[in-house]
Amino acid sequence: AKAQIGVTGLAVMGRNLARNLARNGFRVALHNRSQARTDSLVEEFGSEGDFVPSTDLPGFVESLEQPRKIIVMVKAGEPTDAVIDELVPLLDEGDIVVDAGNAHFADTRRRETALREKGLHFVGSGVSGGEEGALNGPSIMPGGSPESYAALEPMLTKISAHVNGEPCCVHVGPDGAGHFVKMLHNGIEYADMQLIAEAYDLLRHVLGLSPAELADVFRDWNTGDLESFLIEITAEVLSQTDPTTGGAFVDVVLDQAEQKGTGRWTVQSALDLGIPVSGMAEAVFARSLSGDVVRRTAAAGVLPGPAEAKADVDRETFIEDVRHALYASKLVAYAQGFDAIRAASDEYDWDIDLGAMATIWRGGCIIRARFLDRIKEAYDRNADLPSLLVDDYFKEAVSNAQDSWRRVVATAATVGVPAPGFSAALSYYDGLRAERLPAALIQGLRDLFGAHTYKRVDREGTFHLEWSGDRSETQS
Ligand code: 6PG
Repeated sequence: AKAQIGVTGLAVMGRNLARNLARNGFRVALHNRSQARTDSLVEEFGSEGDFVPSTDLPGFVESLEQPRKIIVMVKAGEPTDAVIDELVPLLDEGDIVVDAGNAHFADTRRRETALREKGLHFVGSGVSGGEEGALNGPSIMPGGSPESYAALEPMLTKISAHVNGEPCCVHVGPDGAGHFVKMLHNGIEYADMQLIAEAYDLLRHVLGLSPAELADVFRDWNTGDLESFLIEITAEVLSQTDPTTGGAFVDVVLDQAEQKGTGRWTVQSALDLGIPVSGMAEAVFARSLSGDVVRRTAAAGVLPGPAEAKADVDRETFIEDVRHALYASKLVAYAQGFDAIRAASDEYDWDIDLGAMATIWRGGCIIRARFLDRIKEAYDRNADLPSLLVDDYFKEAVSNAQDSWRRVVATAATVGVPAPGFSAALSYYDGLRAERLPAALIQGLRDLFGAHTYKRVDREGTFHLEWSGDRSETQS
């Protein structure tokens, strides 16, 4: 019998998605450019389900029932285009190509148009959860036509993670919507990790706690509002000892964070949309700084820090303050992330249901967290919420946290420990709530040096002051 769905690209993510589909009772066609991967999958896991391996792409396409459903799981960028180009001539009208990699949503929009013109469906789908998620239930964010989603839905919702019986998979919207939302997920992932790293760094420097003691702090935090996968694995990494030295694992790891690009894309896209995503931007910049060996080497031990690098704080109070700072800063990062999704949805006519995005991130993905339920509830209360931060629940959460948050940012500055995530989040919060911003002065400056005009608080219209003349005001 023919296969119900196929996977081409059997590196670890593709292989685990194929196994997940097979374990859930679907007959899965397999293909990989080098056949060894296909063979080893069948050899090692063939007993898990019904696999239909092929040695070449025409055979793979031939082994699928129509309309064909093909998941492409190869590297983003050119490798994805290469596979699509090879695949398309072999397909028939109505067939569905799913790109489950971390593609840039602009590429997905381009590919969707190209395939649509050929009578094919292209589904750019975010898949989160790493290797483990792909195998046991990821969070799935598919974009594309409603018809293609209808055809894929039974399979995708079956293999996805579930929370309270609900699948962590929903049709996000047309063309690039799914990959945009996955990109934002990764941007938030960057911000979350940066904030966690800052909390760790501050507690370690200010209180002198050991990694093992810090693991206990995070383990404790994971029983409250901060409960999430990333906090859980932070405790795991911090409690790990290095097999070679027997010391803390975290102390033998080179302190240069790498990145594959999705965080950077998020910030670039948000800049284009005009949405401040300062939490994510600081997270990307902090990774860049960590990897900038040339300048770090030139400055370390050369640029002076504060004379008094110890803060006079009570241990339990400071731990609690940092917990609040982390939670409040995290809320800001999510608020900014959802603003970016809303802006893109408006820009590209995606009609994304923001509450549903919070729902599908509750399980399976890297940023899965207890408080995503709260985000869903906030959008249930008001689908047009201008910012998550003004929802009653979040407003309350931030106001409970803010004294701590301010103390932590002040302490970080005093002791000279970098906390770009915490401080950017706090500045955003203060900027957002300000009744009047110094942007008025910026407008004045722009008008003086470039006649860029300004608007007034008391009258409609656009104005200019004759700065080099008699300083009278003209209206344009
Ligand atoms: C996921 C992850 C996944 C990947 C990140 C890592 O949702 O499963 O986000 O997509 O682990 O892209 O990104 P960096 O290598 O850029 O940190």
